[in-house]
Amino acid sequence: MSKPRLIIDCDPGHDDAIALILAHRHAEVVGITTVSGNAPLDATTDNALMVTALLGVDTPVHRGAAGPLVGEPAHAAAVHGESGLGGVERIDHQRQAASDDAVGFLLDTADEALWVVAVGPLTNLALALERDPAWGRRLAGISIMGGSTDIGNVTRVAEFNIFADPEAAARVFDCGARLTMCGLNLTRQLRSNDALAERLRRTDSPLAQFAAQSFDDLHDRIETLTGVREAALHDPCAVLAVTHPELLETRRQAVSVELDGKHTRGMTVVDQRPQPPGGATRRGADAPTVNVAYKIDAETAMGAVVEALGVKNRE
Ligand code: RIB
Ligand code: CA
Repeated sequence: MSKPRLIIDCDPGHDDAIALILAHRHAEVVGITTVSGNAPLDATTDNALMVTALLGVDTPVHRGAAGPLVGEPAHAAAVHGESGLGGVERIDHQRQAASDDAVGFLLDTADEALWVVAVGPLTNLALALERDPAWGRRLAGISIMGGSTDIGNVTRVAEFNIFADPEAAARVFDCGARLTMCGLNLTRQLRSNDALAERLRRTDSPLAQFAAQSFDDLHDRIETLTGVREAALHDPCAVLAVTHPELLETRRQAVSVELDGKHTRGMTVVDQRPQPPGGATRRGADAPTVNVAYKIDAETAMGAVVEALGVKNRE
């Protein structure tokens, strides 16, 4: 079976970097678009370029939005470091961004066989929809790492990618595209730990060494924040939703993004009420248009991640 074709819109970010590696192993990555998020746009773009150098691929990287539709940029230096890839040995390379027009690239590349995997704030996608409201429906689908069906990570109820640009997220969730949402409720099921980092350190592969450094840094920072030396592999889940859909269980539900709540801005409000028989929409409710992921086969998923990083089964 041919590999799915996709664009990754990202804000590298350690887990974005692992997602890029995983995508290049299991998909035809026709391009990378970058956005401000975990770190400022210059840093996320430099990091995406460095990962393509590490992979030895010529995937074009197109710079995108330097901030949200409304308000100021939010970053996550406490988790990923000021550079976005804290603790990782930098690689010298001569790579340059292919353009400053991520939105134009997203619009020009869209076709019914192309997926967009969005693992950062959704600003670029919203700007594409501003220029062509039908853009989302012209795609095979959009797989989003973002939101949550339960608790948040930036506030009690908001997840970072949505919180960083709620107006953009609302536009994407309402665009009519085939949407899969991999929220924190799902991504917390796929976790790295020190044993995994040690296994990667013992693997003679530049990708494994990069990942070991990434996990060590993430675990150090997350231990400081939470006391636990583990990290959720958020962004790879959104890639697996396209490359290995059989590993995820999803439910078709209505999802809205809260924009105004004093305590709830950036929350993905998921209608988890039982739906009437026969697939009818509950009277007065929004139509269930999002495939919300609730479960992942974490063991098989982690096997796909470590294999993409160069770990042989026997190691
Ligand atoms: O909340 C997790 C998300 O925020 C991930 O995409 C991570 O990379 C950060 O961007
Ligand atoms: Ca990300």
